[in-house]
Amino acid sequence: MQSVNDIRSSFLGFFEKNGHEAVASSPLVPRNDPTLMFTNAGMVQFKNVFTGLEKRPYNRATTAQKCVRAGGKHNDLDNVGFTARHHTFFEMLGNFSFGDYFKDEAITLAWDLLTKEWGLPKDKLTATIYEDDDEAMELWKKIAGLPEDRIVRLGAKSNFWQMGDTGPCGPCSEIFYDHGDKYWGGPPGTPEEDGDRFVEIWNLVFMQFEQLPDGSRVKLPKPSVDTGSGLERVAAVMQGTNNNYEIDLFRALIDSAAQVTGVSLKGLDEGGLASLRVVADHLRSMSFLIAEGVLPSNEGRGYVLRRIMRRAMRHATLLGSNEPAIHRIVPTLVREMGQAYPELVRGEQMIEETVRLEEQRFLKTLGRGLAILEDATKELGKGDMLDGVTAFKLYDTYGFPLDLTQDALRLRDIHVDLSGFEDAMARQRAEARKSWAGSGEAGEDKVWFAVADKVGPTEFLGYETETAEGVVTALIRGGQMVEALNEGEEGFVVLNQTPFYGESGGQVGDTGTLTGEGAGAEVLDTVK
Ligand code: SER
Repeated sequence: MQSVNDIRSSFLGFFEKNGHEAVASSPLVPRNDPTLMFTNAGMVQFKNVFTGLEKRPYNRATTAQKCVRAGGKHNDLDNVGFTARHHTFFEMLGNFSFGDYFKDEAITLAWDLLTKEWGLPKDKLTATIYEDDDEAMELWKKIAGLPEDRIVRLGAKSNFWQMGDTGPCGPCSEIFYDHGDKYWGGPPGTPEEDGDRFVEIWNLVFMQFEQLPDGSRVKLPKPSVDTGSGLERVAAVMQGTNNNYEIDLFRALIDSAAQVTGVSLKGLDEGGLASLRVVADHLRSMSFLIAEGVLPSNEGRGYVLRRIMRRAMRHATLLGSNEPAIHRIVPTLVREMGQAYPELVRGEQMIEETVRLEEQRFLKTLGRGLAILEDATKELGKGDMLDGVTAFKLYDTYGFPLDLTQDALRLRDIHVDLSGFEDAMARQRAEARKSWAGSGEAGEDKVWFAVADKVGPTEFLGYETETAEGVVTALIRGGQMVEALNEGEEGFVVLNQTPFYGESGGQVGDTGTLTGEGAGAEVLDTVK
């Protein structure tokens, strides 16, 4: 059997052999895109190479990229544990051509790796193409010898790939693996396509355009290629299962999760198994994020991390564990993935300690919170709603992120009254505003509440880096939000993220410079 580590190496080795530079995974917190919460695809680090803004010393690359899809545009958090293929953290294998080869070689390379190198049977593979991409149709027939009925034409929704509202994009061609008729499901493009039988294992994007903020689409300097293949899915195929949680890496993590929570895998019911999967999946996200310096907090990325950690912790208690347990799985993860990702080895102690402290903190209120939840829902049944005030109290006093409460009620088919939750939150904000004594300069103080409401918190990146990109979210001058600060004017600049440390409780705020297209400013002080 090829292990996950073998498959990763063999993918990278195959493309190196074919003239590709093996490039390390970029961080999960993107350095080159201040609008993206987490790196969610292999091409993120190459975004500017596709558009021609950045030059690299190679025009073919291959990576195994760390990805997190929890929060932001792609959010898989809610599904994790309950399906065979959703993860908050996963690895995307990819090969890239920056103006070098295009459709022909992209298809040839993918087909050769799958069928020759890895020996997957040709009759189990199906391709999809963008509906009017006749060239791709001909290439699949010629290169792979696939019959026309196994090359499915699909529309833009599934076969035109866009990074986001802006950025490189193009038509794509996906490869599906048929796990066989013991699973329910149909080929792509049929009403049964969402079943577990046909699984997408590779996406070849023929990058040709850049989507601009004004809605127009321009041609890239040269046609390029961006491919992505989920390592966990490929490993499932190669290891003869259709469930990602049954591959060797997840077996090791799940065994370890069972051990530290004191359950036996034998005879465990579906709910227990789902909880173990949640713990194993979330352990990977939390460990990789912490290794990069993201810490659990109540804002931005730190809050996504906290939600992931607390969701895992509730599932550990569902398994019967009432002591900090999850941090004890970290050594297993480091053993399994540390060779490919040395940041895990370097950060092992820090990761364990951070997880343990968060477990200790949350376990103090988790039991009490669950008792309140139990009490508030004991009369409720399928389709009922938990009132927003209770959900808010759990959030505010017991540290239950909203999705944790939703997750806890999911199996009973009880929903949370979201508008009631928002109302309770707004009431609390208004109270805080009323009781804010402030510095006496009413105008100055008031504007900050408006800014906080409008743009949300600023994320601090300064533990990891002293320079970073950010988006200006507000400008303030003379106690008012303004559209611009002009040459010679002094005012406040609010950013969505910053490496500048803000003065609070005695420490001095950072100074430095801000630069942007056609603009620049000296930072005289930073305040929180
Ligand atoms: N960027 C494409 C995707 O995420 C291919 O890697 O599917």
